[in-house]
Amino acid sequence: MADGDGELEARLVEQEEFEPSEEFVAQANVSDPAIYDEFEENWPGCWEQSAEMLDWYSGYNEVLDDSNPPFYKWFTGGKLNASYNCVDRHVENGDKNRVAIKWEGEHGETRTYTYQDLYREVNEFASALLDLGVGEDDIVTLYMPMIPELPIAMLACARIGAPHSVVFGGFSADALATRMNAADSEYLVTCDGYYRRGDPLDHLKKANEGLDGVEHGVEATVVVDRLGDDGFGHDLRGNQHDWGELMDEHAGERVEPVERDAEDMLFLMYTSGTTGQPKGVKHTTGGYLAYATWSSHSVLDIKKEDTYWCSADIGWITGHSYIVYGPLSLGTTTVMYEGTPDFPNRARLWEMIEKYSVDIFYTAPTAIRAFMKWGSQHPEKHDLSSLRLMGTVGEPINPRAWKWYYKHIGGEECPVVDTWWQTETGGMMISTLPGIKKMKPGSAGPPLPGIDAQIVDTKGEQVDAGRAGYLTVQKPWPGMLRTLYNNDERFIEEYWQEYSDTDSDDPDDWVYFPEDGAKIDDDGYITILGRVDDVINVSGHRLGTMEIESAIVGVEGVAEAAVVGGDHEVKGEAVYAYVITEEGQTEDDEMRDRIVKGVEDAIGPIARPEQVIFTPELPKTRSGKIMRRLLEEIANGEELGDTTTLRNPEIVEEIQLKVTGE
Ligand code: WT7
Repeated sequence: MADGDGELEARLVEQEEFEPSEEFVAQANVSDPAIYDEFEENWPGCWEQSAEMLDWYSGYNEVLDDSNPPFYKWFTGGKLNASYNCVDRHVENGDKNRVAIKWEGEHGETRTYTYQDLYREVNEFASALLDLGVGEDDIVTLYMPMIPELPIAMLACARIGAPHSVVFGGFSADALATRMNAADSEYLVTCDGYYRRGDPLDHLKKANEGLDGVEHGVEATVVVDRLGDDGFGHDLRGNQHDWGELMDEHAGERVEPVERDAEDMLFLMYTSGTTGQPKGVKHTTGGYLAYATWSSHSVLDIKKEDTYWCSADIGWITGHSYIVYGPLSLGTTTVMYEGTPDFPNRARLWEMIEKYSVDIFYTAPTAIRAFMKWGSQHPEKHDLSSLRLMGTVGEPINPRAWKWYYKHIGGEECPVVDTWWQTETGGMMISTLPGIKKMKPGSAGPPLPGIDAQIVDTKGEQVDAGRAGYLTVQKPWPGMLRTLYNNDERFIEEYWQEYSDTDSDDPDDWVYFPEDGAKIDDDGYITILGRVDDVINVSGHRLGTMEIESAIVGVEGVAEAAVVGGDHEVKGEAVYAYVITEEGQTEDDEMRDRIVKGVEDAIGPIARPEQVIFTPELPKTRSGKIMRRLLEEIANGEELGDTTTLRNPEIVEEIQLKVTGE
């Protein structure tokens, strides 16, 4: 990282703590440190503050129903609609002409939706969905790239009480089919294609292949025409409808938002776990929306006058909570960008920050490390002085990358919030509040007010400051997942069993385990050390090693495979695949290509192995378990730990030579 290194003077390299400026504090949404004590003393009543940020048709009876842990219920009996809260109320409150979504395509074309425009389109599409037969509680799958029709479709679903299940556009046809099957989803919204690094991509081909793998009947598919004349000329199938034609048919129509119970499902989001089958994380209307709104206000400091930009993809939870639901609920302007940060040049994002005068920017450490590598000459060409606050999410950020971001993007004037959370938590859990707390690069910060996070050992006892342990959350919070779709048992196994007394109905005996390692400092700041399960974090995206292994084993000629994460300069972690073939060959380019393609077909290009290492054997213990730790050490070029318990220690050196010697 030569570039980045040279660009930080000694002063910054050494500084360990940073304070927000007085100017920032003076305008911050939250700046009174008393909030921490207030939330603690008045827990769970403190969370009324989040519910009060929403409009309800009828009020809730109870803030938290914890009578049947871990099946917690929040704001019980309350009725609301997420689409009403993200759209209608702003139209009614005099903000109809405020910009809701600023969209920019990869080629620079732009679209602007005011709240009034959004209201019209969401209503028209909601009406189209009803006409296609979508009923309340039918799950609608959205398989789309970063185009405005995606948030419009999400809000249209929310309006009629149909939960959405967004499948990341970069996922493969197989991944789409798996998710539609798991959710029994009979409706799909997709598009013909989109642009990536200048070229049109054929998305409908993938979507159609996915549909062919759906085991139940599919009622209808809606296809957005994104590419126009650049399209691939697919004819629509019998039950496929053109988005534009549907919108024309339903022009001007209005659909009353459905009154949803606070605990009714708002959406499902599939995420990778330890086993091959992705987990369908269920989020609800009341608690999730309240939490996304409250955290957008408190941590991201969003005000409706702001132009706010989160550069994530809506296909991940970050985009759900902090491009769509949180920001739109607050009535701000949210920016959406279709393309990559280096097309047509490496200043693309800085150009947009200058052009739209962006106030708040939220991105991922992997992106920051790429910017660093590209060099500060790119941001330097642009006026970034509109920025007031910056954030990161998705993986640990190394202090150097934090400081580079702070200096070269924020001009040493913007606080940086390093926000730890997960698909399952719905919103941020550990982060500094930017108007209150000092920042310590590399450490996410203290738990947010009302969040009880502790670092424990394998027995569940709190560990001393400075020592590594396991992160746990000891009390429920409004944005938490309610279960895994159709699988309460797995919900308990995955997140609770480890540290809870599962026979107890006392909520104090239930502890949430996010499967991350962490340590805590004397001042209560938490540093996240990374996943402790078989999940690797590639560019902030969670991938299950088992999913990748099963894709590789499915390739003809492969006998066995072990996948581990190895360190990567930009991606954080990269996929290393160790493969034994049926014929025992130790080099085979043709098979390597088929393995890479097999992974891309099963999951998507993000899971593509960085290296495929053919080996006659895998290091195994005497009981036959693969020693993954050793494979990780080999991938990282680290000194190897103990190999004496291996059945086949001689293989280690052979594999090591292949990884490093090439
Ligand atoms: C995992 C969750 C939350 C949206 C993006 C990822 C890691 C997330 C941080 C952070 C260190 C982080 C954890 C977590 N992670 N944020 N600020 N510092 N690690 O959502 O795909 O559900 O992944 O990402 O390991 O468990 P996700």
